[in-house]
Amino acid sequence: MDLATFDWLRSTEGAALLDVAAEAYADADGDPVAAAEQVRRRAPGASADQRAAALSQVTLRVRAVAKLGPDAIEMWFTADALEQATRRRVADHRAGRLAAAQPGGSVLDLGCGVGGDLLAFSRAGLIAAGLELDPLRAAMAAANLVALGLPGAVQQGDATTVDLAPFDAVFADPARRGARGRVFDVQQWTPPWPWVLELLGGAGAGAGAGAGAAGKALVKVAPGIPHDLVPEGVEAEWVSDAGDVKEAVLWSPALASASRRATVIGDGGLATLTEEDDPYAGEDRPVQDVGAYLYEPDGAVIRAGLVTAVAAGVRGGLVDPHIAYVTSEDLFHTPFARSYRVLEHLPYREKQLKAALRERGIGRLAIKKRGVSVTPEELRKRLALRGDAEATLVLTRVAGEGTALLVEPC
Ligand SMILES: C[S@@+](CC[C@H](N)C(=O)[O-])C[C@H]1O[C@@H](n2cnc3c(N)ncnc32)[C@H](O)[C@@H]1O
Repeated sequence: MDLATFDWLRSTEGAALLDVAAEAYADADGDPVAAAEQVRRRAPGASADQRAAALSQVTLRVRAVAKLGPDAIEMWFTADALEQATRRRVADHRAGRLAAAQPGGSVLDLGCGVGGDLLAFSRAGLIAAGLELDPLRAAMAAANLVALGLPGAVQQGDATTVDLAPFDAVFADPARRGARGRVFDVQQWTPPWPWVLELLGGAGAGAGAGAGAAGKALVKVAPGIPHDLVPEGVEAEWVSDAGDVKEAVLWSPALASASRRATVIGDGGLATLTEEDDPYAGEDRPVQDVGAYLYEPDGAVIRAGLVTAVAAGVRGGLVDPHIAYVTSEDLFHTPFARSYRVLEHLPYREKQLKAALRERGIGRLAIKKRGVSVTPEELRKRLALRGDAEATLVLTRVAGEGTALLVEPC
């Protein structure tokens, strides 16, 4: 969609066409061809471009609800900007943490896209300003603030040349998508990594040299960011939502309260773990024989290097110094790991494993693996399962040896 079509969609005629498109989409049960045909019949006066833009907007809004909640039905998107937007629960957590550090302060969102984070900052009571290079996205972010009745302002402009001094804090979420998909090389991000470092006050830039007056900066980065790229004094927080690691956030020294943190968001709320919760930090990793329970740490915990903190929390140890499975004789409910009751050790060799599963009448098998080169889908086929029973199999390495464990979720 171009800016002119977006402006038209915000007019009274545009709003009427969006209503028609929303009804057609619902009547057609989301079938794009049937919906397009209905829009054509119900709004013959609109141009083909306008109809296509209205229908695509409705489709994006519906798709966005899972990521951004019911507010998304009122919002404006492009497909790429929706893909890049931060999930609502994750954005709200980050904004809440910043607001707690500087209640009522201001924040400049450098490269705000259509406003996933910007809206969260505003909802959290911060004075939220957005800057965005792309004129359409900038216009959509501004319209999204209006649509949700939130205070804030957006300007089109270049984040790398703006004066940051008037703001209490700055936030950036550099674009990590190139023409050919996701970009893992930090030097390819836009704005690029040296700019991020300067913002955070790392790599000799002086504490918070690039950030606002108070040196407060936070930057969303890919969860796969190597630990050695995180500058000294900067906190790296890995965040998962419903068990999936979504991102890492780097907090400048003025905002940092740990060096590594795992934050786990679930339906019941949020829990957080830092290196201070890890009695084994800098020590030998505790390893013990597989006990009555096996724990599979959350991805954020693994990325943050805090698996041994989980081991300490469940009075257990690792099954192997290099594998992120924890075992214990005791059952604990923890937000930082899924727990399984260990039912049996099965043979690891495929032929014997197949026979053991047959004996037990296991016809449906969930396969989990860590530290072994097995492709679960292919193995499942080769095992030619038969029977009515259902089970979970864990394939891993214990003391360097391949090991198969039959477990059940607690
Ligand atoms: C990953 S997206 C931001 C998504 C946003 N945080 C959200 O939740 O919706 C990154 C944005 O940065 C913008 N951008 C890239 N370089 C920029 C620059 N130099 N100045 C301003 N914006 C820039 C891109 O156009 C893109 O919209």
